[in-house]
Amino acid sequence: MEFDGKIALVTGAGRESGLGFATARRLAAEGATVLLTARDGAAAQALAARLGERVTGHALDVTDFEAGAALADEVKARFGRLDILVNNAALTSVWGETAATADMTAARAALEVILLGSWSVTQAFLPLLRQSGSPRVVMVSSGAGSHNDPAFGLTTANAMGPSYAVAKAALNALTVRLALEETGPIRINAVCPGFTATFPGGAEMGARPVEDGVDSILWAARLGNDGPTGQLFRDGSPLPW
Ligand SMILES: NC(=O)c1ccc[n+]([C@@H]2O[C@H](COP(=O)([O-])OP(=O)(O)OC[C@H]3O[C@@H](n4cnc5c(N)ncnc54)[C@H](OP(=O)(O)O)[C@@H]3O)[C@@H](O)[C@H]2O)c1
Repeated sequence: MEFDGKIALVTGAGRESGLGFATARRLAAEGATVLLTARDGAAAQALAARLGERVTGHALDVTDFEAGAALADEVKARFGRLDILVNNAALTSVWGETAATADMTAARAALEVILLGSWSVTQAFLPLLRQSGSPRVVMVSSGAGSHNDPAFGLTTANAMGPSYAVAKAALNALTVRLALEETGPIRINAVCPGFTATFPGGAEMGARPVEDGVDSILWAARLGNDGPTGQLFRDGSPLPW
């Protein structure tokens, strides 16, 4: 199996209908040992229990920097390394939000989860990722944070609110800087899962099945050590920044 023997961690995986849980499920099905994390530790444990003995559930609020560091210590003690980190946790904008009038508390919350949460979790786990022979960091981003994505982009559409879009653009920028700094076999990429039916009524609105979004995410976990790094992809094809 493709991820046999790999140690993987997924953030924001506490919703049964969400991409995080589906990604954890697929990683485990393909042989990985998975740390399924969510803000609600009980939910994480209950969902993990459904995926077999290689999956364990853990509380992780990505905005709690100390909690990320503590979980990294736990993973170090148990495994001594991490092979795959999927930064999936996110908040969406309130419907109808505009940049001119956005509530700054909500904008701060989006930046804290999407940007600083992914940043701090990656920082905490980088020493363990460097112990892997083929480390992969997948930032689950969005075309909403790209300038030119025709469907959701910053300059081409306003389907998603600015708090979300700006935070995803910042996450894309972080991806570039981390990849520039990290040499060696590590591959750090941002991916857009595409418009995916993770919410009620999504399929009726044209959103695609969750497994298609997972394919887009796991493409970046499957890259070889000579694969691209510091880029943004959807379905394995580059997206413009
Ligand atoms: N679905 C789409 O069409 C689409 C398109 C492009 C990109 N994406 C991206 O794909 C990823 C998954 O999206 P989804 O559709 O599966 O949405 P989702 O079900 O809302 O998943 C996001 C998860 O992030 C978690 N989260 C929020 N704040 C957190 C925190 N402080 N610490 C840890 N976890 C936190 C949420 O947990 P709680 O349950 O605790 O709130 C939720 O389970 C996100 O990064 C999203 O931006 C989705």
